[in-house]
Amino acid sequence: MYRTNTCGELRIDAAGRTVTLAGWVQRARKMGGMTFVDLRDRYGITQIVFNNDTDAALCEQANHLGREWVIQVTGTVAERTAKNPNLPTGDIEIIASALTVLNSAMTPPFTIEEETDGGDDLRMRYRYLDLRRPNVRRNLELRHRMTIAVRDYLDKQGFLEIETPMLVGSTPEGARDFVVPSRMNPGQFYALPQSPQTLKQLLMVSGMDRYFQIVKCFRDEDLRADRQPEFTQIDCEMSFVEQDDVINLFEGMAKFLFKEIRGVELTEPFPRMSWADAMKYYGSDKPDTRFGMTFVELDSVLKGHGFSVFDNAAYIGGICAEGCASYTRKQLDQLTDYVKRPQIGAKGMVYARVEQDGNVKSSVDKFYTQETLQQLRQAMDAKPGDLILILSGDDVMKTRKQLCELRLEMGRQLGLRDKNKFSCLWVVDFPMFEWSEEEGRLMAMHHPFTHPKDEDIPMLDTDPAAVRADAYDMVINGVEVGGGSIRIHDSELQAKMFEILGFTPEKAQEQFGFLMNAFKFGAPPHGGLAYGLDRWVSLFAGLDSIRDCIAFPKNNSGRDVMLDAPAPLDARQLDELQLDLRPAAE
Ligand code: AMO
Repeated sequence: MYRTNTCGELRIDAAGRTVTLAGWVQRARKMGGMTFVDLRDRYGITQIVFNNDTDAALCEQANHLGREWVIQVTGTVAERTAKNPNLPTGDIEIIASALTVLNSAMTPPFTIEEETDGGDDLRMRYRYLDLRRPNVRRNLELRHRMTIAVRDYLDKQGFLEIETPMLVGSTPEGARDFVVPSRMNPGQFYALPQSPQTLKQLLMVSGMDRYFQIVKCFRDEDLRADRQPEFTQIDCEMSFVEQDDVINLFEGMAKFLFKEIRGVELTEPFPRMSWADAMKYYGSDKPDTRFGMTFVELDSVLKGHGFSVFDNAAYIGGICAEGCASYTRKQLDQLTDYVKRPQIGAKGMVYARVEQDGNVKSSVDKFYTQETLQQLRQAMDAKPGDLILILSGDDVMKTRKQLCELRLEMGRQLGLRDKNKFSCLWVVDFPMFEWSEEEGRLMAMHHPFTHPKDEDIPMLDTDPAAVRADAYDMVINGVEVGGGSIRIHDSELQAKMFEILGFTPEKAQEQFGFLMNAFKFGAPPHGGLAYGLDRWVSLFAGLDSIRDCIAFPKNNSGRDVMLDAPAPLDARQLDELQLDLRPAAE
């Protein structure tokens, strides 16, 4: 038997017992005639003592131990004289009587402790060592508890966990696919699923009624802190439901997870905000509602006073930062530089301070009388000591997005984006389509299987861009943690949707014939949702990036630096797959 106990287990009531522990040497230090070893495993750290006076040979052996060596120790549990209140096992130590080295170890490239000296790249290259650090390990433990809680909740609600294939066909909508060549079908390719969307709909046609799957999804898109090329969805689908049924069940699940995992009791129903309002007041379809500072449209107040930037703008919007009138010129210049960064792209920023006497002083005073500035103050509901920040632009959506970035930055500077505070909502009534500049056509905002709102169906022929969908996203603290919709279950409506999206009937048949045909065999009304597991875990763990809750994540260029993937194929493999590579572009 390698061990009788783990390194996180023993307490004072075990004093006097003979135990055997096994683990990694976190640290070994010699003090006088004693050698102390901190022995670590997944469960914690226990102090081992080797006493030169009682067993010099054993102590000598311990003096040769290096960091991260794997050892087994037998000894007696004793009460410590100098207790360590920071360690759950800090009341005891093990007086060693035997030591076996199970494996030596090279010196690790960075310190394996909560605070490490290893940079990002190094830690990713040696991710198996990084995972020994307790904070990283705790994220994986949290993730495990989440998936157990999810399965428990959905099982009790009658959901069946059903696996769907990873080798599927490529679909032209959505993000780019990762593709896999087929050796047995030369010149043909599978795609890895971006989500099991069509398959779960087919399971509804099969009568499975309630399906879920904790499933890997793959999307070849640009990476951000909350995006990985492979990520995990809690993917769900239900038959004979309307939007409210899906929303209620998954709001219930969200509340259950908050209670189980974070100990937070959310009793109120989550507010619902239309997509149009989210864009109007927050400039985002995933508004961070932990704080106010909502947008006010200022066209009627600020246009027509000779300031050409505003006079020519399609949109002028402001936010009011409470108590920030004392911002220095330098701070305001920094904010201006912030919104002018290429990623945000504003041309400039106008500010107005409300002074203690109620007067308003702005950066464009020469164009505005105090009377107009007072109208501005009123429109913004600004009080003495507040700061009004204004952006304008010739594209309404783009300017709102810029103002959204400014609002988030102000929220950050004012400490309003507290990670321990949670603000949940549903964003509903999404537009069915959005115009794609790149493609020069309408694209499905969610996906082409989303049901239009019944009352908007007549507009499919007359004004498709105005059609709203039975689609909903759950947003927490400005993060889209899940999204779904009621689906089309009628093959004719589905065919019409493909037509609006620019598919010829032949192309639609070729790509989605399997689904439209299935719908002819008695498809029930159905709908569902998928939660992003990685985003939920990082939200609960207070992480800045979802990478930290994934055992082996990819870096920002989509590489696994530990496995050194992706990598070229050798000539034999290419030959088997009948693939010829073009010479790399200069
Ligand atoms: P959607 O594309 O909105 O919907 O994805 C559902 C949820 O998955 C998470 N997510 C991601 N997480 C990490 N990295 C990514 N690259 C990534 N992309 C998405 C988000 C998102 O809300 N089939 C539909 C769901 C449905 O309609 O039932 C779908 O995939 O949290």
